[in-house]
Amino acid sequence: MREGYHAARWDEPVVCELGTPGRRGVRFAGADSDAGRHVPPGMRRQAPPALPELSEHDVLRHYLHLAQETLGMLGVSLFGTCTVKYNPRLSEQLVARPEIAELHPAQDPETLQGVLEIVHRFDLILRELSGMDRFVFQAGGGASAAYTHACVARAYHDARGELGRRREVITTIQSHPCNAATAAAAGFDVVTLPLGPNGYPELAALRAVVSDRTASLMVGNPDDMGIYNPEIREWVRLVHDVGGLAFYDHANFNGVMGRLRARELGFDACMYMLHKTFGGPKSGGGGPAVGAYGCTDALAPFLPVPLVAEVDGAYVLDSDRPQSIGKIREYLGNIPVVVRAYAWARGMGADGIREAADLSVLANNYLTSRLEAIRGVETSHPHIDVPRLEMTRWSFERMHAETGVGVTDVANRMADFGIDGPWLSHHPWLVPEPMTPEAGELWSREDLDEWCDVIQRISDEAYSDPEIVRSAPHRQVVRQVDHAAGEDPAGWATTWRAYRRKHGSVRA
Ligand SMILES: Cc1ncc(COP(=O)(O)O)c(C=O)c1O
Repeated sequence: MREGYHAARWDEPVVCELGTPGRRGVRFAGADSDAGRHVPPGMRRQAPPALPELSEHDVLRHYLHLAQETLGMLGVSLFGTCTVKYNPRLSEQLVARPEIAELHPAQDPETLQGVLEIVHRFDLILRELSGMDRFVFQAGGGASAAYTHACVARAYHDARGELGRRREVITTIQSHPCNAATAAAAGFDVVTLPLGPNGYPELAALRAVVSDRTASLMVGNPDDMGIYNPEIREWVRLVHDVGGLAFYDHANFNGVMGRLRARELGFDACMYMLHKTFGGPKSGGGGPAVGAYGCTDALAPFLPVPLVAEVDGAYVLDSDRPQSIGKIREYLGNIPVVVRAYAWARGMGADGIREAADLSVLANNYLTSRLEAIRGVETSHPHIDVPRLEMTRWSFERMHAETGVGVTDVANRMADFGIDGPWLSHHPWLVPEPMTPEAGELWSREDLDEWCDVIQRISDEAYSDPEIVRSAPHRQVVRQVDHAAGEDPAGWATTWRAYRRKHGSVRA
């Protein structure tokens, strides 16, 4: 455990308040020329912009300080639900190469043959892992892939003349909220099933709601508690029996990679997160991310366009698909993320991917054996006696009740030891004071021990000196953030000029 850790603190003014009039970094020859004559007079600046005047070294030092303050920790990060993993430097180097970085998606496909081949080959890899017939990489994240499914389901039922009747999408309370949200955004009514005594909704609950109004099931399995619904085949069968579709949110694929295939469980479609499970940098909500959406041939006509197809040894963009839902995102999506994922999958190989799944479950079991022994920390639903897969949701409810220290205090205090606070839970919190660490396949036993030692230490503090936890963090640049301030529009400003108008100069 790193007792001596302290984040760098530079007490640095914002860049707009740095500088000295007349100071310059680089002077470009010709910069003072009359090139501006091409700009119509009415559009020319009358006065230079109020930019900070800095030397190159000033700029470098300022941003290095900010980076040290914000990125300096890089501790053990067990950020759970959806598997945030290390991003191999090799993949970063690959996507920085001009062959990828300088491509423009509007180039003639003849000049994009290499990257289209990567897209096609990666599609084949995901077909192998899932059993699906076709993948697209246009969606900008997991939620965006779920939305793709909701649109595909809508188009599919519409083409069969059943959309007027099929108004309902069924999901479960432990599935990621994007399943319910994207179904609603696509115009469906959402039916959410509650948890049963075994940690997943009961089959009887599903039986009670499936009908000829069912458009699709949209569920994750295992859920974020790490509990696998063993009746999932039966779920899919029940939905198919009434003519509905079944979509597998495979964000929690990590613990079952190479061990089960969505198609063999009966699903019609599934999604994987390339920015998480497949080694790309984590970011969601449409950021530089990719939700890979795969489906059976029956749904393929409705996929967003263009599809990459191989014709006589060349790769073409196929947009001539009259039943397509159109576009979910521009062009082919975030291609550099697909390249990273392809590099990851090829580097791991089929055996490596399967082994990673097993290791991630083993690591979670190890984490469980250590955390169970810590005072005030309990698994969610402790009465459920099934092995969890790659993740377990924990509850700090007992600690909260006995000491007043809640799970957010614990996460804040973790930062004092150079450890990232993990994901707690999506809202609503079904489990009180929840925490969801995910050990994954990459951390060493020493790393996991360090993480657990920190939780042990915080538990000891909570029961002996709770104030030290409640007032944490103590060794970070910023102490506790006043969230209320962010709620007040009077304090908001989207530009420096607007900020100065509202608040004057910070330093003055
Ligand atoms: C199970 C599950 N599904 C979907 C998503 C949504 O993914 P994204 O954040 O990439 O939109 C997440 C993200 O946390 C998730 O955990």
